[in-house]
Amino acid sequence: MTVFEVKHPLIEHKLGLLRSNRLKTKEFREITSEIASLLTYEATKDLELEEKKIKGWAEEVSVKRIKGRKLVIVPILRAGVGMLDGLLNMIPSAKVNFVGLYRDHDTLEAIQYYSKLSRDIGDRMALIVDPMLATANTIIKTIEILKKAGCKNIKALCLVGAPEGINKLEEKHPDVDVYLASRDRELNDIGYILPGLGDAGDRLFGTK
Ligand code: URA
Repeated sequence: MTVFEVKHPLIEHKLGLLRSNRLKTKEFREITSEIASLLTYEATKDLELEEKKIKGWAEEVSVKRIKGRKLVIVPILRAGVGMLDGLLNMIPSAKVNFVGLYRDHDTLEAIQYYSKLSRDIGDRMALIVDPMLATANTIIKTIEILKKAGCKNIKALCLVGAPEGINKLEEKHPDVDVYLASRDRELNDIGYILPGLGDAGDRLFGTK
C-alpha cells in the first residue's frame, strides 16, 4: 500500500482552516468539499487515456479520453457524503455507490447497515471516501464489501489519518492506495484523531 500525504499549499491552507473550532457548518462543508476535489486530482493521476479523433471547429483533431469503465465513488455513510460533491465536481459522470457503517461506541467495531453497489463494480476503479481514517475499521470493512462484490481496483481518499489506522489498513489491504491531506499524530483513547478535526459527521451536518 502507498500512502500519499498530498502536500500542496492549497490543501495545507484549507486543512488549517478546517482545524479551527470556530467554523460554521457551512464553512466546514465547503472546505471539506474543496479538499476532496484537490485529493481527487491527485488520486486520478494514473487513469489510462486513449486517443480519439473528433471533428474540431476547423479540422479533425486528435483528443484524449479516459479509457474503459472508469470510476465509482463510494462514500461511507454518513461523513463520506461530505466529500462526495468535491469528487463529483471533478468527475461529474462517475457512478456513486453507498456503504452504510456505524462505529460501535464501546468496541469501535464497524457494523454494516446498508450497501447499494453497481452491478459492474468489478470493471471500475472505486474511490472510497471517508474524512477520518481513525481506527480504519470502517474503511477495512468497506474494502471487504467491495472486494466481495468483485472490485479489484480500490483507492481511499480521506482528509486526515492516524498512524494506527494507516498501519492497520496497510496490513489488511496492501493493494489499496490511500490519499490523505494529513497524516496526524495519534488516536486518543476513545478513537478520535489528534490533532484531528473532531467528529467530522457532526461538523459536516450540524448535528452537535
Ligand atoms: N471519526 C471522526 O469523525 N473523528 C475522528 O477523529 C475519528 C473518527
